[in-house]
Amino acid sequence: MESEARGQWGSRIGFVLAAIGSAVGLGNIWRFPYLTYKNGGGAFLIPYLIAVLTVGIPLIMLEVSLGHKSQGSAPVAFSKADKRFSWLGWWQPLNSLVILVYYSVIIGWALNYIVFSFTQAWGSDTNSFIYKSFLGITSGPFDIGGIRWPIFIAMTVIWFLNWFIVYSGVQSGIERANKIMMPLLFLMMLVLMIRGVTLPGAAVGLEQYLHPDFSKILNAQVWIDAFGQAFFSLSVAMGVYCAYGSYLPRKSDITNNAFITGFADTGFAFLSGLAVFSILGFMSTQSGVPFTEVVTQSIGLAFVAFPQGIGMMPVVPWLFGLLFFGCLLFGGLTSSISMVESFSAGIIDKTGYNRKAVVTWTCFLGWLVSMVFATGAGLYILDIVDHFINAYGVVLAGLAEAVAIGWFLGPEKLRQHFNAISDFRIGPWWDFLIKYWAPLIMIVMGLVNFAAEIQKPYEGYPFLALFLLGWLVVALVLVVAFLLTKMKPKGSVTTSKGGV
Ligand code: PHE
Repeated sequence: MESEARGQWGSRIGFVLAAIGSAVGLGNIWRFPYLTYKNGGGAFLIPYLIAVLTVGIPLIMLEVSLGHKSQGSAPVAFSKADKRFSWLGWWQPLNSLVILVYYSVIIGWALNYIVFSFTQAWGSDTNSFIYKSFLGITSGPFDIGGIRWPIFIAMTVIWFLNWFIVYSGVQSGIERANKIMMPLLFLMMLVLMIRGVTLPGAAVGLEQYLHPDFSKILNAQVWIDAFGQAFFSLSVAMGVYCAYGSYLPRKSDITNNAFITGFADTGFAFLSGLAVFSILGFMSTQSGVPFTEVVTQSIGLAFVAFPQGIGMMPVVPWLFGLLFFGCLLFGGLTSSISMVESFSAGIIDKTGYNRKAVVTWTCFLGWLVSMVFATGAGLYILDIVDHFINAYGVVLAGLAEAVAIGWFLGPEKLRQHFNAISDFRIGPWWDFLIKYWAPLIMIVMGLVNFAAEIQKPYEGYPFLALFLLGWLVVALVLVVAFLLTKMKPKGSVTTSKGGV
């Protein structure tokens, strides 16, 4: 049977863990907690949950059922839904690929910091350590500097793992890796959280994290943040769920799994916030530095603040570092393999080449490109590419997806498909969300991002850098998507024939 040749999940839980594995990642650990704190504490959960429930989960349902119905990854799924949208089927996995090449490097940093947790290599000035000694940051994006060998080596290890897991197949690679890493990740975060809340001063941080300020949710930017974060965190419009959905057996639940994935991702983000903020509260109390000065996000949180906190731990500081950077490593890897799969599955389905060859080439070329991010200018380039691909590439690909299904294919066709096999049925409200609500949200998101762009160049980077690494990358991805639609299957047989 064809579906067997393409690979299939061994169990429902295998699929669910892989989907959660894709969703839970760096975004949950280093961005959600800070956004919550900044945007009204506990009150932020209202816009965030609305974003997850009205756009995130409905799009997961859409993508999984599209992949499942066509028994194909995004390029097959979209072209079968409507020939005119073949390019969209490539656009999404290509966006994933762009994210993958820098995301893997960040996981490589975390790998280094696992080692540093034992040696405390960062000394007392963790800020100057990361930027000067570790990243060797240059004067700007065009001042490449040299290869940073520890980063290069670590990102090579990460690419090897990406390759090895996806190369081994859907069931014995991706499913197995998620079955090992996801329970461990939850366990490790739970231990961190328990350790965090039992530290002196934890309450100070938790108060800052959760104290609700309802006036904030009247602010439009808070809603934009909520939708943007839900989008990235749930990995929607990346081609991941089409590929993962295509490996589900014919009779599988879709709706309930989508809700489980969305809630698990949100729950994990919330849990991370408890861990992160109780530790920040401890640090502020311990050092006497005001809370507003210890609180940060992303790189500043993981690689500047946390190493400091590790140094302050009363007992077994290395264990604390191991747990935290281990969470970044596992959360990151289960996301990065989903991006490898999203793209590779498209090539495999469309050309008929075998998985092992396609994954090997994908990872080899990805590794080559990642080298750029292992240089002294890596952080600048990463920052610009990350901003543009998410603010425009992914948002527009999501918009195109909702329009394609909402207005051309007809959402009710997909709803019939998943209603016939799922644990419970979904009413026509879903059609409304796909047809009107999701496009509206994404148009507003795109416009707000663009308005900010023309007011002020992103992070004050020179125009040429923003043009070449931002706009041009976004545009090139779209051009390549169109070119890939012209790709001919190997020989005359195609394995992308599905049973729709
Ligand atoms: N959702 C992941 C995170 O929160 C990132 C991701 C993006 C995963 C795109 C897959 C595809 O970190």
